[in-house]
Amino acid sequence: MRMMSIVGARPQFVKLAAVCRAIARRAASGVPIEDFIVHTGQHYDPGMSDVFFRELAIPAPDIDLEIGSGTHGAQTARMLEAIERLLLERRPDAVVVYGDTNSTVAGALAAAKLHVPVVHIEAGLRSHNRRMPEEINRVTTDHLSDLLLAPTPTAMRNLEREALGPRAVFVGDVMLDSVRHALTLANERSRIVEELGLQPGRYAVATIHRADNTEPPALRGLLDVLNELACEAWPVVVPLHPRTERVIRTELADWAAAPHLRLIAPLGYLDMLRLLKCSRLLLTDSGGLQKEAFFVGCPCITLREETEWEETVAAGGNLVAGTSRGRIRAAVEHWARTPFDADRAMRQAGSPFGSGDAAERTIDAVLAMQR
Ligand code: UD1
Repeated sequence: MRMMSIVGARPQFVKLAAVCRAIARRAASGVPIEDFIVHTGQHYDPGMSDVFFRELAIPAPDIDLEIGSGTHGAQTARMLEAIERLLLERRPDAVVVYGDTNSTVAGALAAAKLHVPVVHIEAGLRSHNRRMPEEINRVTTDHLSDLLLAPTPTAMRNLEREALGPRAVFVGDVMLDSVRHALTLANERSRIVEELGLQPGRYAVATIHRADNTEPPALRGLLDVLNELACEAWPVVVPLHPRTERVIRTELADWAAAPHLRLIAPLGYLDMLRLLKCSRLLLTDSGGLQKEAFFVGCPCITLREETEWEETVAAGGNLVAGTSRGRIRAAVEHWARTPFDADRAMRQAGSPFGSGDAAERTIDAVLAMQR
């Protein structure tokens, strides 16, 4: 089996890490399987890319397409052209795409047009909000794919509803595999809490990067709420996505952070996990972080009107608060009074994200395609 994995953005490196470890285990036991790793270059800052490969010991990409940023159309089109060329050259047995970014949809479309089987890891997620570029990428990629690997029962149901059930397999969430693997490393190696002078359990973490939330008026509103929280309750640490940093610098130059609102550069994976593990609360619009918080037992407030990770809400670990000041403050008050026991929640919910062996099950499903 000659796979080609296509990745380009931060959350995909985390998923790829789990898959690479599973491939290495199979290869070591004599299974003829190899993966050619394509980095589209969608995320190119060392802090958004290299650090993940290094910390998670992901093999270096076999090729970096260096696509960089651009409008959605231009970025995706440049990827499509470059990936098609590569596919014609290498003719892999399967193309594996991850999650919901522009790199995902470009990989899936290029492969499907050349009749190369497409495997979608983290298939079936739906926010039912077509304003999100990620939602368009998910729907398109799922319908182009030959093997749909669903991380949760909700994702399976979404696929069945769109008549994609016959191509779908529930494998669990590769991000659970990654968190379990990396948390031990994070506890051993990361000193981020100490470096930032924070006390475990007495600070909050926030991230904002979604397109809608980084429109200047929306971003200003969210930053104002974080300022209030930092003044009244706990210090708030905000690792900034480059897009968010740029909007603050260029469009919100008159906005000022309160003394305990700590805007910092993007963190590597191990620092992020440890910061989250020791945090009292997470406020985020990220998909991946909602789950990572759930896995490490940190209560979450989702700064969007909907979530793809309904299981985290049903299990009592995540409040979907939207972006209005009143609802966010009410959610913060809820978490100030309510403890959250992630292990118990996960057991009661019946392990909706699988049991930490999603990458192994992924490889089983990919190999079964050839039979
Ligand atoms: C992408 C994904 C999103 C994922 C997120 C994780 C899409 C549509 N969205 O969003 O699903 O949750 O990654 O971070 O693919 N930039 C830099 N340096 C970098 C990367 C980006 O400066 O290393 C800047 C670029 O100027 C770019 C902007 O950030 O214009 C946004 O990057 P882009 O690749 O368009 O998508 P993300 O917002 O990162």
